[in-house]
Amino acid sequence: MSDDLPGLFNLTPLNPEFRDDPHKLLARLREECPVRRDEMTATFMLSRFKDARAVLNDRTLWRGPDRVEPRATFHRLVDTYEPDPDTGERRASTILLMDEPHHSRVRTPLAQALYARAAKCKPQVEAIVAETLNALEGRDGFDLMDEFAIPIPIDVIGAILGVERARRDEFRAWSEAVIHVLNPLRTPEQTTRMEAAREAIDAHFVGLMEDRRRTPRNDLITDMVRLKDEGAPLSDIEIRRNLVGLLVAGNLTTSDLIGNGVYLLLTNPAELAKFEADPSLVNGMVEEMLRFAPPTEITGRIASRDMEIGGCPVKQTQSMVALLRAANRDPEQYEDPDHFDVARKPGPHLAFGGGAHICIGAPLARIEAQAAFTQLFHRFPKLRLARPDETPPKRTLPFFNGIERLDVLI
Ligand code: HEM
Repeated sequence: MSDDLPGLFNLTPLNPEFRDDPHKLLARLREECPVRRDEMTATFMLSRFKDARAVLNDRTLWRGPDRVEPRATFHRLVDTYEPDPDTGERRASTILLMDEPHHSRVRTPLAQALYARAAKCKPQVEAIVAETLNALEGRDGFDLMDEFAIPIPIDVIGAILGVERARRDEFRAWSEAVIHVLNPLRTPEQTTRMEAAREAIDAHFVGLMEDRRRTPRNDLITDMVRLKDEGAPLSDIEIRRNLVGLLVAGNLTTSDLIGNGVYLLLTNPAELAKFEADPSLVNGMVEEMLRFAPPTEITGRIASRDMEIGGCPVKQTQSMVALLRAANRDPEQYEDPDHFDVARKPGPHLAFGGGAHICIGAPLARIEAQAAFTQLFHRFPKLRLARPDETPPKRTLPFFNGIERLDVLI
């Protein structure tokens, strides 16, 4: 095994080698050491599709940071444990970090309510995309991240939750600050802003829940309050934390799917031409974007027993991380994996994880992205990069694959 292979914290845009050519490093890992123990974070990094999928789909594995060996600082750093004021019990409050039996207890009613809303929201999402584009008519150009990819998921989740549009700017600022919950390398300043935003948003949700108890509305907050009041075993803080969790897990990721996807199309004119000639390719195209440039780069599990993965022994309580970008380009799984092909026959990918923790917002993210690409290229058929010779700046948030700014002309 080569000693110069990267560790987990080298796989972030803070490392220029990774920032400039991530797939060179990821391919080396996959080829030379597909199950690599990174001593610094005490984590096994899985870069092959079959190993990553097997671990993510194994519902007997753990996720809660209290289960991991103490050396696995990576899990500890994202620890959000706090006492539940209703019960005094100390445990994770968001499903992302919960294990059974609490994970199903909280996820099942939340998923039931969110899937029901996602199934009906297509016209509303299409209207939000259309309004966002209306505001850009008559301009020469704009920053596609700031004025299209970022506002759409915020407006959509705001509408589903039932947050007034008047509070949209505040909601966006909170959403951008709380994402650092998932950043194990956050700075003290980011931590301070994150904590302030969590407090502000929590206070806002306390008010919204009280309001919906008095005056029910047609929104997700009302759904959750009603489910609890009808007997679903949820505490108020679990409802609030998990509604905020939808912003943390869903906003930036969906913005990045849209931003990365537009950039891929504008830099692959033959693929864009295929899509423009046949807009019905959109659903498969979104899956190919998720495979080729997944917005979330990693997700983890903890061994609940001594086990073997890809021929390597892993002991109970040890941490494993699936490198989703590497797995989604595995040549053992995909033909010509480094080719972005909007007409690729859709097959499984790991952009939404898998098993018990598979992304709860996947149906919604797909509807948003499909509406965004369909309407954007129809409305602005001359859409092009403002500076085609420059690579747009990447965001520096570790383990999220996104563009900071994407200037386009219309
Ligand atoms: C393109 C957009 C998105 C991507 C790439 C993405 C990716 C992911 C990934 C990789 C996971 C971890 C799965 C695992 O460990 O197996 C996850 C979990 C989750 N996602 Fe998403 N997500 C997206 C959009 C959304 C949206 C729109 C929402 C909410 C409306 C959302 C809410 C969640 C939640 C709550 C979890 C935790 C589920 C659990 O642990 O049971 N995500 N997502």
